[in-house]
Amino acid sequence: MEARAPYGALTAVKIPDKDSIMAYKVALYPGDGVGPEVIAEARRVLEALPASFEFTLFDWNSSLYASTGRCAPRDYLDRLMPFDAILLGALGDASKAPDHIAVEPLLSMRKGFDQYVNIRPTFLYDGVDCPLKNIAPGQIDMVVIRENTEGEYTDLGGRHYVGTPHEAAMQVNYFTRMGTERIIRYAFETARKRERRHLTSITKSNALKYSMVFWDSVLADVAKDYPDVTCAPMLVDAAAMNFVRSPGMFDVVVCSNLFGDILTDIAAIIVGGMGFAGSANINPTRRYPSMFEPVHGSAPDIAGTGKANPIAAILSAAMMCEFLGEVELAGRVRNAVRANLAGGRVRTPDRGGHDSTSAVGNDIIKKLQG
Ligand code: NAD
Ligand code: IPM
Ligand code: MN
Repeated sequence: MEARAPYGALTAVKIPDKDSIMAYKVALYPGDGVGPEVIAEARRVLEALPASFEFTLFDWNSSLYASTGRCAPRDYLDRLMPFDAILLGALGDASKAPDHIAVEPLLSMRKGFDQYVNIRPTFLYDGVDCPLKNIAPGQIDMVVIRENTEGEYTDLGGRHYVGTPHEAAMQVNYFTRMGTERIIRYAFETARKRERRHLTSITKSNALKYSMVFWDSVLADVAKDYPDVTCAPMLVDAAAMNFVRSPGMFDVVVCSNLFGDILTDIAAIIVGGMGFAGSANINPTRRYPSMFEPVHGSAPDIAGTGKANPIAAILSAAMMCEFLGEVELAGRVRNAVRANLAGGRVRTPDRGGHDSTSAVGNDIIKKLQG
């Protein structure tokens, strides 16, 4: 069965001129933990393709914290700005830096580069153990379109009366019409390009009567422009249940920043685990670079052991190829991943195997070439 590029809404935007000699300028930002291990494999896969990538390595991670109080230089956004794309591993190493400081560059890239669409495809590949009963390969095939710049992640709030009995903390959920409308529209566009043309909008409108009721009203407005797409609302608690109970019912899912974060870990585990989940953080206007990264974190429990599954990073690299206009190459990478999975012989421990991160990388490159 064909694992289609499920985020086809991107591909119409820019097709590079094939006759011109050009190299895609890619910033590699491996980060912490397993980040460098999986990005090394994604890079090798990209280098095995008949396209020209010019990589620049940014060695920014939590080790910088002790000497600088930061995990990236102050001007990191300026330095990343000239690139066509950023390929990120993972950020976070609690032994070296507070987590909210370590991941700050990730959130700032999403906001500063207005990468307002976070695309997280979920596909159950042949050869992967599904932890759910009676689900065949291909029966889970959905794309979560996560709002990526505002909502619950808005940098608005504060702590007051710290250390006193009156201590208080406030974290503001902030939803704008522009931010809500553009992500919903993007999700409809994505749904329109897929076979089932179905969109599920995840909210919590029964309890969050300002933000989520607002979201629903924007959805209703935008839906008028997409009579060819069926659209259903679903409360986030029920969605968490349905991702496990009947994941086949989902095609395209649109949700706020935090709901998308949580739901996409569930989405990853039902198709085999964090090691399979690639993602794209897109600025559709292309005014700023977009960023591609596995959904997983730095996996400190397995970092440095060679056990990390590089497939999530490699699928993220495939999404990057598609975004750069190299649709055919993206398909080749996905096919090589599929061949590795279906073959079932070279597998990292999360797949029940004994092979290393780089052994899986080697096998995927072999499949790419063979
Ligand atoms: P995690 O995703 O790093 O790990 C969760 C579980 O999944 C662990 O058991 C881990 O071993 C496993 N796992 C993750 N990636 C894997 C892979 N490629 N192959 C095999 N198994 C894999 O989540 P966590 O433990 O909650 O977070 C660890 C750190 O990562 C924290 O500092 C967190 O803030 C950070 N984090 C960063 C990102 C990011 O940079 N995009 C995303 C999530 C978490
Ligand atoms: C993700 C991560 C990030 C998020 C963290 C590291 C801030 O969990 O990309 O899913 O919450 O968005
Ligand atoms: Mn997450």
